[in-house]
Amino acid sequence: MTQISQQALEAAVREYRDPYLEKDLYELGAVKNLGADENGKVTLIVELPYPSKGIAGGLKQIVTNALENVDGVDSAEVHVGQKIHSYKVQKDIPSVPGVKNIIAVASGKGGVGKSTTAVNLALALQAEGARVGILDADIYGPSIGMMLGVPEGKRPETRENKYFVPMEAHGLQANSMAFVVTEKTPMVWRGPMVSGAVMQLLQQTLWNDSSSTCPRAPATSSSPWPRKSRSPAPSS
Ligand SMILES: Nc1ncnc2c1ncn2[C@@H]1O[C@H](COP(=O)(O)OP(=O)(O)O)[C@@H](O)[C@H]1O
Ligand SMILES: [Mg+2]
Repeated sequence: MTQISQQALEAAVREYRDPYLEKDLYELGAVKNLGADENGKVTLIVELPYPSKGIAGGLKQIVTNALENVDGVDSAEVHVGQKIHSYKVQKDIPSVPGVKNIIAVASGKGGVGKSTTAVNLALALQAEGARVGILDADIYGPSIGMMLGVPEGKRPETRENKYFVPMEAHGLQANSMAFVVTEKTPMVWRGPMVSGAVMQLLQQTLWNDSSSTCPRAPATSSSPWPRKSRSPAPSS
């Protein structure tokens, strides 16, 4: 039987380039195990560092073919998984418990599509295998609950009188100012109070191992938020 060269196996694996990050699997640190047994069966374990369900099938096929073309290889088995890393952007800022990464969707203007973008981004990441939470940081015109079909008036459960259990909708975890205030809550809030409320929503929600959340910046409106109409955010 032909001796299988480990170097040739590695070269075959390196033929594949990640379509998004444009690196090979070794450069990405994604190769967890590569070896051949005495019968010429090769096993490769790949762990991609980002939500990548959509490309897993193609990767598997391409790399299996490349490995099976190596001299002496009878068959190849490629396992593709993913492990989301926590990317630290600013080292002095403490992370949020249960949240690995945060994507902020913000603008200084209302009605430009922040909520729409945030919801689509969250659902797309989820379809790629991420566990996603969405924080509606729009204090004056929260619309995430409506967009996710959370029934009006539904309140999140609390724990220890301190933490919110996020709502689940379409598989996403969600929390929003709309879930925790009532029509009677005065909404003529000023800057520090608004940022305090957003921080509380972010830090006192029991996010469950989210790969990412999509908080949105509060609209820059200073007018009271008309709680009754849970329609999309008023343009401001
Ligand atoms: N890409 C887009 N093209 C056309 N209309 C859009 C687009 N994105 C959002 N909209 C519409 O614009 C309106 C405002 O969007 P929304 O996401 O609520 O904005 P924001 O959160 O910034 O206030 C909604 O009616 C939404 O359906
Ligand atoms: Mg909005």
